[in-house]
Amino acid sequence: MSLKSQTVLITGASMGIGAAIARRLANESATLILFARSNDKLSVLSKELQERHTGLKVYTRAVDVQDNTALSNAVSNIIQQVSQIDVLINNAGLALGAPNAFPDLEIQDIITMTGTNINGFMFATYAVLNQGKMKARGRGTILNVTSTTGLEVPPFPGEAVYHASKACQEAFTNVLRTELTGTDIKVLALRPGVVATNFHEQRVGYDKQSYDTFMKGFEPLVAEDVADAAAFMLGQGDRVSVKALDVVPTAQRSLQVFDREWNERGEGRRAEAMSVDRAV
Ligand SMILES: NC(=O)c1ccc[n+]([C@@H]2O[C@H](COP(=O)([O-])OP(=O)(O)OC[C@H]3O[C@@H](n4cnc5c(N)ncnc54)[C@H](OP(=O)(O)O)[C@@H]3O)[C@@H](O)[C@H]2O)c1
Repeated sequence: MSLKSQTVLITGASMGIGAAIARRLANESATLILFARSNDKLSVLSKELQERHTGLKVYTRAVDVQDNTALSNAVSNIIQQVSQIDVLINNAGLALGAPNAFPDLEIQDIITMTGTNINGFMFATYAVLNQGKMKARGRGTILNVTSTTGLEVPPFPGEAVYHASKACQEAFTNVLRTELTGTDIKVLALRPGVVATNFHEQRVGYDKQSYDTFMKGFEPLVAEDVADAAAFMLGQGDRVSVKALDVVPTAQRSLQVFDREWNERGEGRRAEAMSVDRAV
């Protein structure tokens, strides 16, 4: 399905996966509505996209998804400028305080994680369905960026709140899909594994040693890999829902089993790829 005439609202669009999805969908000439808290980053991204794609329509709003009133006002305001919202990419989210166990977390970090990953995730959905009129139109797609942690709970100690919030997103996705029976609204889950974005640095409080230990020996995804997966899901026709898609680094066999020898074997992998290239 062409995304050319589609209007796509992306939460958490100022960097990482959300920004990569914006860039990917700009290539398809979708009209973009970009939400995040950082107005400056959104402005830079919007300028970049409009310079690269003549005539591309990009709307930005500095919105904290934890603030239901701000979010619903922003969607009400935007809907007066675009005729409709065809797609919500529900992507804003974060993990804080790892590797602390639950009782050792700062209470504010718990509030921010649940406020963003649970409340904000539902507020964005609610605003697009109601103020954004997706429910009244009975057409559209809600693509929830959840996580492999949402399914593989309980994974490892240290991220009780983040993992619980992602499991909640999975449950919400499944129930909403059934509640919207009788409409042509698709509700999909895109579950990334480890992606090298600000997320993992922030997750461990920007502690370089913890970050390096977590990423040791394997190649994580980059945000563009997840954006390609999102474009694949959105590109299906009305009849087909890619209901859920796990996109993970090959070395991430599960949340507990990482192939830390992946990089060591890289030379062999490169040599084989080159010999195939030569043979073609
Ligand atoms: N990276 C991974 O390995 C990974 C794996 C699985 C799932 N995910 C999920 O993918 C999504 C995106 O993560 P990412 O890797 O792209 O992280 P990121 O690079 O840190 O980007 C997170 C985005 O969310 C926005 N955001 C955070 N809190 C917000 C709030 N309260 N209101 C509005 N926007 C907010 C941030 O913008 P501002 O700071 O400007 O608001 C930013 O644009 C998250 O839901 C995350 O749980 C990531």
